[in-house]
Amino acid sequence: MFKVILSETHHSLKLTKWGQTQLMILYLLISGTCSLVTVHQPPVIMAALGRAVVLQSNLILSPDEKMSAQPVLYWDHLKGDSDSARLWPSSKSYKSRVALMDSNEDSFNKSILLKNVQWDDSGKYLCKLSITTEGKKFREQGKPTLLMVYDSMIFNITAHDDSLLCCEVKVTRGPAVVLSIFHEGSELETGDCGPEEAAAALPYVTLSKSVHVRGGGNYECQLHLNADLITKSSFQNNPSGVEVFPEPWPLYGSLLLVPITVLLGLIIVQKCRS
Ligand SMILES: *[C@@H]1O[C@H](CO)[C@@H](O)[C@H](O)[C@H]1NC(C)=O
Repeated sequence: MFKVILSETHHSLKLTKWGQTQLMILYLLISGTCSLVTVHQPPVIMAALGRAVVLQSNLILSPDEKMSAQPVLYWDHLKGDSDSARLWPSSKSYKSRVALMDSNEDSFNKSILLKNVQWDDSGKYLCKLSITTEGKKFREQGKPTLLMVYDSMIFNITAHDDSLLCCEVKVTRGPAVVLSIFHEGSELETGDCGPEEAAAALPYVTLSKSVHVRGGGNYECQLHLNADLITKSSFQNNPSGVEVFPEPWPLYGSLLLVPITVLLGLIIVQKCRS
């Protein structure tokens, strides 16, 4: 008896769980159709110092929603809690460095290009749109994108120890980026690069990893943000003293000629005898 009751409660429990899932799906569907306009920005992007970077943003409208006027686009560089600098519509300080990626203003792709990236450009960027639909006028914004800036990677033998191969890269603060070193495709255990200078009030941190050179071949240092390869650098190691010469093929050829001639001579002699 008791067993039956227990299994029944269990069953009803299962049912409510299933009901909850259905409710959740329904809720997601409704909230999906109710959030008419959204702005999508990637959470983190990385830019090489001195190069250009695309700050991506896309406007997404539910199918039943129509805009009655072109949206007005704003891009801000957030600096601290209340301070921000306007990139777009481009202000004086950004005039020559910022451009729209898609000049067609009807496009929902609101990405902008920021040229000649500097250390100071690191930080958060927010895309805002002023939207007019039939009967409504409102502002919508994305979730800020964090721009991280990195300098060229340096991958070489250290000055104090010629068996130590060190990889260094300067990166502005942000979520974990990872340096790793590979030898002929397989990842190596890494250590420190040796004495480090104390970084005072620099806009970046210096990431470094080292390996002991063990054998010739190709070493590669890679900088990753999550699964994305950001930048890499190679180091070709030819063990000292063992220089690689091109193969002396003509010599091999002439060496082979000797037994061939002897053999031919022997055959000819045999033929003549018989
Ligand atoms: C928007 O445009 C940028 C730059 O042209 C491009 O990289 C990005 O993939 C586009 N986004 C979408 C969703 O098409």
